[in-house]
Amino acid sequence: MNIDLPFVGRVHDIPSKASWLKFYDWSKTYGPIYQTKIFGAVHVWISSEMIAHDLLSKRAIIYSDRPMIPNLPDNRTSGDYLALLGRTETWKRQRKLCSHLMHASALSSLHSYPKRERNRFLCLMWRDPSKYVEWIEQFTSRTVSRLSWGTTHPAHMLRHTTFGLLETISPSGALPNIVAFLRHLPACLSPWKQKERARHELEDRLFRANVDFVGHRMAGQRAEPSFIRTFLESKQSTDEKERAKWGETDEAMHVVGLMAIAGALTIGSPIQSYLLAMCHYPEWQRKLQEEIDTALDGRCPEWEDREQLPTLRAVVKEVIRWRPPVPTGIPHAIEKDDIYNGYFIPAGATIHALEWGITRDEQMYPDAENFNPRRWLDPSFPTFREPLTQYPNLNGFSQFGFGRRTCQGIPVVEQDLFLTMGGMAWAFDVRKKRDARTGGEVPVHWNDYTPLLIAKPAPFPFDAVPRSRDKMLAMRAMYDEAAHDHELEAEDADEYEYDLFSDLGTLKFGQDANGVEIGAEQTEDIGGDDDDVDSDHDVLINVRDSSPEPDLSSRDSCSELEELESDKEDVIIMPLLDEKMQYAKIEPVVTVLDVPGAWRWA
Ligand code: HEM
Repeated sequence: MNIDLPFVGRVHDIPSKASWLKFYDWSKTYGPIYQTKIFGAVHVWISSEMIAHDLLSKRAIIYSDRPMIPNLPDNRTSGDYLALLGRTETWKRQRKLCSHLMHASALSSLHSYPKRERNRFLCLMWRDPSKYVEWIEQFTSRTVSRLSWGTTHPAHMLRHTTFGLLETISPSGALPNIVAFLRHLPACLSPWKQKERARHELEDRLFRANVDFVGHRMAGQRAEPSFIRTFLESKQSTDEKERAKWGETDEAMHVVGLMAIAGALTIGSPIQSYLLAMCHYPEWQRKLQEEIDTALDGRCPEWEDREQLPTLRAVVKEVIRWRPPVPTGIPHAIEKDDIYNGYFIPAGATIHALEWGITRDEQMYPDAENFNPRRWLDPSFPTFREPLTQYPNLNGFSQFGFGRRTCQGIPVVEQDLFLTMGGMAWAFDVRKKRDARTGGEVPVHWNDYTPLLIAKPAPFPFDAVPRSRDKMLAMRAMYDEAAHDHELEAEDADEYEYDLFSDLGTLKFGQDANGVEIGAEQTEDIGGDDDDVDSDHDVLINVRDSSPEPDLSSRDSCSELEELESDKEDVIIMPLLDEKMQYAKIEPVVTVLDVPGAWRWA
């Protein structure tokens, strides 16, 4: 006889914040697979990697569909978002194209875009670490804009539309995703529909403008490499088969758009979690620095150095395990009734590989709450794998999903994280701030994360102190390169239709997933409020010394500068990160219709 899975909980038992902790708690009582019913819909929760593989990979034929998202009801069929499509012919075609475009770019080491943006990112972190969320979001959106369309121009707008989409699809982001019947309200009565429609229209215009831009640049032989250029080149082939192979431009526009969305949304989470980990586990920062300093003789890590830096790869992987970026996973849907170990799983149920629970499995990850990269480096741990020139790496890691729906962005994630985490370890001592009055450490939260589908740490204070004068000089050179890059970009600014968006005026995307206002920096100097500096030069004083005393962090105040006048040895001049380093000027699409209760930021 088949029996139902353990049945747990009611909707009001599920907290709106960090719901994954509750689902994980239940797994400790009811086992690694159980079900919940929310407004009549069956949800199955899996907290074991083995069970997730048994069902989602080995029985992929019936477990590869996606559920309908009440607040985006055509997600399974519309073809706009590959990751949300049902198991349809459109999904198969789009997945193949995505894989082809990613593969082509990965073969060229992603055209070194992550490195260029990483260098710019380090300068900004040096300039003002307190704005780390903004700098990280700029890094991810600019890198993926380059990869997608060969330019950073769309990065700012991409952030607006993408964070809006995250709200639209997240259970804690829009009420109809929980109270499903609200989706039947007509648009005139549904603030959610109105807002999503306006967001979608803006996104569509953005993606079309980007494809036009690349086509235009290709006509002048001036297009930088990108996913969309690879596609458009296949359209120009003399071979008819090749021209037809990858489908229509409209569809490719959406596939590349989804890749950009995925890159802009997700990668900031582990970069921020790295900073959190370094505040709590300084010993791992020291180990990382030792490895980098010894292997690279003082040089900043580059992607080509990865074989020599297993500790850095272990830190990357452990950050993702310790604080999974998609803690509840992206749900699958089952198409036919199934039985697993005697338990009945009904057709149509939503299946969640609970990534948070999977990474807490003590069999596989002993002392799972502890951040311990050694588990990837030491043969006494079950997760160890040789050779260390190759492992650990992110291929096949549970945090990127299962079966036919696994993530296709791993080459980008791997390179972005290796370079940013390695770059920060090379450049800075990240550490808790000290209270100027008491000298005590300013506390940093342990696990306070945002509630949307992609979880990011709530803002926290820390210092990022450059480790030596040599490193500051190297970062100064990085700044020059980044400024030069910007000049080149400015040259093609006229070809990109900025004012395309100026007439929309019906949207307000206030905050990003951290609750931080998106692009708050855009209307001001990117270097922050430097009222106290009246020349076009700002000075960063930032040298490590042997004293454990704090306050080696960046300072701008005039009095502090004067104080340090006498110690010019330790002063490196850094131009203000003025307009040169800003996004090209897209006026933010601002205001209007702040629909009451439309989207919730918990
Ligand atoms: C830290 C960063 C990222 C994480 C943790 C992550 C994680 C995931 C997860 C859990 C899934 C769902 C897998 C499943 O349903 O079993 C997924 C799907 C996907 N990801 Fe990622 N991802 C990341 C970054 C990226 C990037 C940068 C791209 C592209 C540039 C990307 C492209 C995709 C695509 C296309 C899918 C959908 C696959 C499908 O439905 O067939 N991801 N990702």
